[in-house]
Amino acid sequence: MVKVHVNGVEVDVPPGSYIIDAVEEAGFKVPLLCYLQGVFSEATCRICVVKLNGRVVPACRYPVQEGASIVTHDEELISLRRLNLELLLAIHTISCWNCSVKGSCTLVSLAKEMLIEGIPVCSECPLYGELCLLSYRIPCLGPLTIAGCNAECTKLGAPCTGCRGFILSKGVWREALKHYKMRNVDVESLLSAIRVFWNNLPEDLSKLIKEVSPSNGQQPEV
Ligand code: SF4
Ligand code: SF4
Ligand code: FES
Repeated sequence: MVKVHVNGVEVDVPPGSYIIDAVEEAGFKVPLLCYLQGVFSEATCRICVVKLNGRVVPACRYPVQEGASIVTHDEELISLRRLNLELLLAIHTISCWNCSVKGSCTLVSLAKEMLIEGIPVCSECPLYGELCLLSYRIPCLGPLTIAGCNAECTKLGAPCTGCRGFILSKGVWREALKHYKMRNVDVESLLSAIRVFWNNLPEDLSKLIKEVSPSNGQQPEV
């Protein structure tokens, strides 16, 4: 057996074990995203980073070493995990408003757990597909609004008015605006909804809205 210390707790694990095994054996948890035990352990997401004798390594891929000291949580690790998840989200097409795995999406759960504000209200809304308010051309701001309220209003059947503030990612806006367009949501009513709380949208986001506006020669003011 290999003896290691996880956050000061001594455990013995079989040779060839990964750090994640020792962490679990010691009764601690680190977030995992890409790791699927026995199926995938290529350490591509780096959400599971821990410190092994002071060095940052992915827990799901790094083997244990005799006498090693492992730290699973400190300020640096938390901020690294957050950064890695934000980078993943930046290149991820967020389509929560028509995703059928709502409620069991690990990416969304982790983002919420780590207080990352790039996930839309749609990710926690029980209305999707045909029930989504956009299907009735109701300008719900869920796709553009920071999640975290558990979709309070949409649960009652009312559109989200964006009280938690807007998502800053242009990628999310582009994708969401495609959906508004696809569902024939009227741009003027979308803008009215936006004006309730978001008077000072950054210039680049205002520009994106103008891009989906009908070409009637008039540019809507945001
Ligand atoms: S009703 Fe609104 S919050 Fe719910 S999925 Fe549709 S757009 Fe998103
Ligand atoms: S308006 Fe506020 S509480 Fe209601 S769904 Fe939108 S963010 Fe949540
Ligand atoms: S869970 Fe993705 S690198 Fe470990």
